[in-house]
Amino acid sequence: MVEFQTLQEIARAARATLGQNAWDYLTGGGESETTLKRNRLGLDSIGLRQHVCRDVTQIDASTELLGQTLRLPVCTAPMGSLELLEPVGAEGVVRAADEFGVTAFVSSLTKPEIEEMAPKTNRPMVYQIYVRGDDAWVAKFVKRAVDAGCNAVCFTVDLALYGRRERDMMKRYRPPTRQAGDLAAFRFQTAWNWDNVKRFKDAHDIPLIIKGIATAEDAETAVELGVDVVYVSNHGGRQLDHGCATIDVLAEVAAAVGGKAKIMIDGGFMRGTDVVKAIALGAHAVGLGKLIGMGLAADGQHGVVRTLEILEEEITTTLGLMGVTRLDQLDPGFLRPAPPVVEPDLLSPYPFIDFTDKGY
Ligand SMILES: Cc1cc2nc3c(=O)[nH]c(=O)nc-3n(C[C@H](O)[C@H](O)[C@H](O)COP(=O)(O)O)c2cc1C
Repeated sequence: MVEFQTLQEIARAARATLGQNAWDYLTGGGESETTLKRNRLGLDSIGLRQHVCRDVTQIDASTELLGQTLRLPVCTAPMGSLELLEPVGAEGVVRAADEFGVTAFVSSLTKPEIEEMAPKTNRPMVYQIYVRGDDAWVAKFVKRAVDAGCNAVCFTVDLALYGRRERDMMKRYRPPTRQAGDLAAFRFQTAWNWDNVKRFKDAHDIPLIIKGIATAEDAETAVELGVDVVYVSNHGGRQLDHGCATIDVLAEVAAAVGGKAKIMIDGGFMRGTDVVKAIALGAHAVGLGKLIGMGLAADGQHGVVRTLEILEEEITTTLGLMGVTRLDQLDPGFLRPAPPVVEPDLLSPYPFIDFTDKGY
């Protein structure tokens, strides 16, 4: 097989491999999919200010997060039911993250289970949890994470109710993550609130990541309660419709956090330029969801590694052309508002591919 040279080719291969239900599961959003498109609109509405005549022969795009060195400032975002995209499922992503040198977030709703993957990676994972039980249930989950060598747990909090995925509903298709839902257990997730966060911090030593923060106010509360990583996310536009682009709220969150916690972000990141924009606005690392899903669907573990390698080339090229050699040189001064040149949607970063019916 000819090696992928661009992310566009990986997206095309993923589309060719996946049946319509799996493709829709990977790429769909809530209701009108406005949030999903806004994530792209936000990223596409930022221009890069280029500085020249600086020595950029040595570029280092690595960073530190939760005591680990990341070869790039990215992590694989937690995704449920990865086995729908490729039989190897989450194991392909975890192994690829280890092979390349970034941290994998593992969803509690994917296969294989975290215990099975632990012996297959040398790098601590982050276990992502949806709360489906009381404090004792949560404590059991944390123990599983610790026993599997995870260096943090991540609570996803932007899913107090299921967002309406009309792309699936109109086909009467229910992805497995939504079939498993036992209503009695889901009640805990709906009720989970800042008091639970406080109780968690009081009871556990493990670093805590709260994923799904979208406002300065909530970021401030999270920091007051001692959250270690504030993760700005709107679930890739899969939950609340008509939400704001994550990149548009990053600056206010960074100001609210005021250096007291690390900041992650995800939502629509499909290019190296996207990642550089987030770092300039104060993020320490970017979560990659659909892009990693596409790499997995395109060619399993190798497809994910190749996705990260191409992303690295894009990030390094972007930094060098901007006159930057290290991530800590970036700041908002490298950015300015700029009008998008294409109608934003998930695949608009890949204009050389004809997704004919945009079949997604
Ligand atoms: C197929 C799929 C499944 C997902 N499942 C989960 C999940 O189980 N837990 C979670 O916290 N987020 C889940 N997410 C959201 C991602 O973690 C992440 O927030 C989102 O994908 C980021 O946006 P992006 O896909 O545009 O990169 C899922 C996303 C996708 C695409």
